[in-house]
Amino acid sequence: MLQQIKTTTNFIQQSVNFEPEVGIILGSGLGNLAGEIEVVKTVSYSDIPNFPVSTVKGHKGQLVFGYLGGKKVVAMQGRFHFYEGYTMQQVTFPVRVLNALGIKLLIVSNAAGGMNPTFKVGDVMVITDHINHFGTNPLIGPNDDELGPRFPEMSEAYDRRYIKMAFDIAEENNIHLQKGVYIGVTGPTFETPAEYKFFHVIGADAVGMSTVPEVIVARHGGLPVFAVSVITDLGGGTVIEKPTHEEVLQAAASAEPRMTLIIKKMIERATF
Ligand code: HPA
Repeated sequence: MLQQIKTTTNFIQQSVNFEPEVGIILGSGLGNLAGEIEVVKTVSYSDIPNFPVSTVKGHKGQLVFGYLGGKKVVAMQGRFHFYEGYTMQQVTFPVRVLNALGIKLLIVSNAAGGMNPTFKVGDVMVITDHINHFGTNPLIGPNDDELGPRFPEMSEAYDRRYIKMAFDIAEENNIHLQKGVYIGVTGPTFETPAEYKFFHVIGADAVGMSTVPEVIVARHGGLPVFAVSVITDLGGGTVIEKPTHEEVLQAAASAEPRMTLIIKKMIERATF
């Protein structure tokens, strides 16, 4: 894997000649944040050696290099999901590459179902912790000590400094922010009412089909992480909602400007 990471990183460095300080992974329906980037170069996943190609509607499949909040960033417009049939190593390979490109902060966004009764559709939730419910882990297999430790520590998977910064920014801009625990599941089915209830009972506030693998790999590689969920549907309440992929995309679009503002100002303020 180390060789693959090196090949891909060299390819990208040669084609863009740009050293990003922040990496951003854009979730379902949240790809428009890339529109705020003063673009220097885009590279399609299909042109990048060893990169998988994304298959989901609403995911573009390119790396966008440029300036956001006055800093050099690279955004993944489109990510890889375990439910698409990729291995955990494929899902998380881009994070290894972004780390090798030299980013100092990884920002992750996703669309998620809300289970906390105080949440509403369109809320933005800062992820304070996660539960890995994929039934697997991207670090299973031989460990390469050059990439990180065999038994990574996960007591602060989501960096407290950036969580605080997000709430400071939200307050200054009159944005209502939620916070909570994200549970990552394989999908592609949405949850049954019993599953939503179960996930809430075991301590989760939102559920989604991504993020956890990427965050595990980022932490393995020592990268600080900030992550947000956009609540696109509600489960586990008295009303049984039936989320559709279209509703998820619509709710994501309504929350996007608030999420974008927080991320942009965070990048402005971040010091490495
Ligand atoms: N469950 C799982 N993943 C999701 C959901 C959900 O309710 N909404 C958006 N992604």
